[in-house]
Amino acid sequence: MAFETIIVEIEDHIALIKLNRPDALNALNSQLLRELGRALSEADANDKVRCIVLTGSEKAFAAGADIKEMSEKSFVDMFLSDFFGREGDTIARTRKPIVAAVSGYALGGGCELAMMCDFIIASDTAKFGQPEINLGVIAGIGGTQRLTKFVGKSKSMDMHLTGRFMDAEEAERSGLVSRVVPARKLMDEAMGAAAKIAEKSVLASMAVKEAVNRAYETPLSEGLLFERRLFHALFSTEDQKEGMSAFLDKREAQFRDK
Ligand code: HXC
Repeated sequence: MAFETIIVEIEDHIALIKLNRPDALNALNSQLLRELGRALSEADANDKVRCIVLTGSEKAFAAGADIKEMSEKSFVDMFLSDFFGREGDTIARTRKPIVAAVSGYALGGGCELAMMCDFIIASDTAKFGQPEINLGVIAGIGGTQRLTKFVGKSKSMDMHLTGRFMDAEEAERSGLVSRVVPARKLMDEAMGAAAKIAEKSVLASMAVKEAVNRAYETPLSEGLLFERRLFHALFSTEDQKEGMSAFLDKREAQFRDK
């Protein structure tokens, strides 16, 4: 089934997913999050895809959850539907690497969505924020937890309690984003990073993702053991043999994801 709220293009082992609700600054409604979850699951299952890039428009990565959709809902509506819980879990469970390319506003659910990706490359126009407090609510798809892990308690509290926006320079300084580039270079930079990732074995990339994410969820001793077991397990792959032989033969490795 075709998508209406996102655009997906697959080329050279990269799935580029563009949020596409320009009239609402890519506000995240149920349809968009369902379609995004489906696109990510399909990219995970597609053996031609080794990396995913998620982006929005120049003006907005996403300006938050759709306030129109939420405004009349009751607690019972939100609780019974587990509003955005399932959709958020589907996105966060994606196993292949996702690079977020953020230009303009990444607010509320938009900031939370960017943080569900594996790393964020921002344009110098990017603005991050968790302004839900201005609407009388709080973040609902991970903002209080993930932003705190990225930038620490003090800055996270500041962002959530005041609702202020963080510019790209502050976001890089605080560890929220990995790189900042001029707006006109954003997509080249993100696609370049994705191309680098797509040269590698997807087995190793997926293992990196599992192991790094483990650092957020377990004590160090468990994370170290988990990493070591994955490291050992990769010695059962053809790509490990190819990668190490290529190094010793002084040639480029040709990974086959096996
Ligand atoms: C629905 C939105 C929207 C949103 C913008 N729009 N953000 N619609 N939900 N989150 C719509 C506007 O209503 C407007 O539609 C059009 O997009 C353009 O927006 P403007 O406000 O006219 O643009 P501008 O003046 O440039 O201001 C940009 C902005 C502002 C600063 C980003 O739009 C804004 O503050 N948006 C809300 C940001 C926010 O509060 N996000 C958190 C949402 S709660 P019309 O039809 O009037 O042209 C959330 C909870 C997550 O995310 C947890 C979920 C479980």
